[in-house]
Amino acid sequence: MTVKLEIPVIDLALSDGAERERLCKEVAKVAEEWGFFQVINHGVDESLMTRTLDVYEDFFHSPVEEKTKAVISEDSIEGWKHPTLTQASEYLQHVASQFSAEYVANSWIPATPKYTKKWPPTPAALRPTSIEFVNAATRLHEKLCRMMAEGLGLESDAFVKHFVDPRVSLRANFYPVKTESNFVGGLAPHSDLCNTTLLIDTVDGLEVKKDDTWVRVKVLPNAFVVNVGDLVEILSNGRLKSCLHRGCPNENKERLSVSCFYMPNDDAVLAPLDELLVDGQTAKYKAVRFADYFESLISKGNLLKDRIEQLRVEE
Ligand SMILES: [Fe+2]
Repeated sequence: MTVKLEIPVIDLALSDGAERERLCKEVAKVAEEWGFFQVINHGVDESLMTRTLDVYEDFFHSPVEEKTKAVISEDSIEGWKHPTLTQASEYLQHVASQFSAEYVANSWIPATPKYTKKWPPTPAALRPTSIEFVNAATRLHEKLCRMMAEGLGLESDAFVKHFVDPRVSLRANFYPVKTESNFVGGLAPHSDLCNTTLLIDTVDGLEVKKDDTWVRVKVLPNAFVVNVGDLVEILSNGRLKSCLHRGCPNENKERLSVSCFYMPNDDAVLAPLDELLVDGQTAKYKAVRFADYFESLISKGNLLKDRIEQLRVEE
């Protein structure tokens, strides 16, 4: 059932000044209780957010021949994929049925061929705009991770020191208007395997699981939706929550969302922070190397919450 709860909204306008301590505590609190929140006055240029949505909207409205230039390849999760017009690669066939929206996904940081395999050549503004957006979003990711740490009473860099040389990717999802005849399932319930996710959206459609209820996120102009990913849940020893969410089409309008995933480098090893293992607290998760955790998503098609549960230490 979907009800009219609303995820918290935090105004970051004074987060580098007089209100920082209060706002850090607020960010940590909503990350504990919801794992999801929205931020406004976050410092990312609003025209850049609009240009990013525009350039991906242009991409999805391009002729199929143009989009095919970025079609996803057999050995990668990078590129364009459509639920019916493209084949699910062997690499992705496990997850194809769970991710049935049209999308294009690319890693932009670090800018190495290992990751940036299939970015769309058209529209021409897509690549420079994506890079500009990812750089701005990465600064906000880092700021929020610092605020969450401070709000938990930890050193500001308690999380970000584990995210040296991060990998940052964008995934744009495009949903036609939801009708009886063209219903697309969207994105099945899942948690995100990253540190944190920042999302911008054109219309309502993202839904977040709060306790036993699906809550539809109300799109606010120029806001980012923030969600805690699995890795921050692990580092915080379960204090901060990586919650289930799902992507749904809108009943009245086409929907475009752009998510920016902030991840560690492949060799980073994530485990509950030592500074939280005090006063009788023991580690609730086993340590995991990021590349191995990422591979567990792809090779097993394991998108749901039980991916992180596999790391849970038995009590
Ligand atoms: Fe997600």
